[in-house]
Amino acid sequence: MLRAMHRCLAVSACLLTVAAAAGEASLREMAAKRKFLVGAAVAIGPLVNETEYQDTLKREFNICVPENAFKMAGLRPARDKFDFSQADKLAEFAAANNIKLRGHTLVWHQSVPKWLSDGKFSRDEALQIMKEHITTVLQHFKGKVYAWDVVNEAIHDKKPYAIRDDSFWGKTIGADYVEKAFEFARAADPNIILYYNEYGAEGMGGKSDAVYELVKKLREKKLVDGVGWQCHVPCGWKPGDAHAQNAERLGKLGVELAITELDFAIKQPTTPEKLQAQADSYRDTLKFCLSQPAFKALLTWGFTDKHSWIPGFSKGKNGDALVFDAQYKPKPAYGAMIEALKQ
Ligand code: XIL
Repeated sequence: MLRAMHRCLAVSACLLTVAAAAGEASLREMAAKRKFLVGAAVAIGPLVNETEYQDTLKREFNICVPENAFKMAGLRPARDKFDFSQADKLAEFAAANNIKLRGHTLVWHQSVPKWLSDGKFSRDEALQIMKEHITTVLQHFKGKVYAWDVVNEAIHDKKPYAIRDDSFWGKTIGADYVEKAFEFARAADPNIILYYNEYGAEGMGGKSDAVYELVKKLREKKLVDGVGWQCHVPCGWKPGDAHAQNAERLGKLGVELAITELDFAIKQPTTPEKLQAQADSYRDTLKFCLSQPAFKALLTWGFTDKHSWIPGFSKGKNGDALVFDAQYKPKPAYGAMIEALKQ
């Protein structure tokens, strides 16, 4: 009896995987019909080493973003040295499989290489290094990356929600480092979509007001084209009126929007009820994006629970945040996303 049940479970999981593999209901096909982009962050290790990772990525997504490979510490091992060897693996994979590529990220308070954070640089030198970095990276990826997170997470979490002054960039250059980064990016490649990306600024509130003001100022100077909402949120989270209000005011500035790093962390242990609540969160978030004309894309931060930053980040308290499980089987969240795309 037990063996029969196991077999039945294995068969139905297998059927689900096969159905997805048949391409009938893949996320990317459904999204394309809605002229929408559905994607995920990609880690280079499994991209190179795991067939199932590659297969799932190319079957399901029409946009992707490197989880770490385009960050400064990896791309810029020394002041006079760039290393694109890891980054290019993703750029090649994306091009070969007709997957759009977002760049993440040119300027951030984290992933600053040691030679930079430990060095002594004047404001002018730091600006020069930033300019070199942005120009070289954008030229390298010209025609391959369609949108870049130029600056990531520049605004403090606490009142008065000022530009971070405790990062290498903020300390060495001052608060105008944000605008400078956008100026350098615009000059390096006028054809790409320039994003400001932030967390904890999805609804209405002090931090999202600060993002709005920053984007408004940059927009007046024609320096920004998009705003990313990271959306690292707990299972059960749903967008509501405050999110619609924020999306609408940003949309009025003429910028496009994307959810750039979605995951719904489940407080451990995971239960079937929590997986269902997570599915509801995924469904409602995707439905929300589809109902807001400014939203062009939704990307999850990884796609399989086998490779997700959540367990490490939460020291094991949270996990199972993505739409495929650790065996690459679609979870209830996957079906919920398909459902949202069908409606
Ligand atoms: C995280 C990666 O997932 C980790 O592997 C890395 O150790 C640290 O960075 N917001 C961002 C992302 O903008 O770049 C972060 O990615 C997660 C939070």
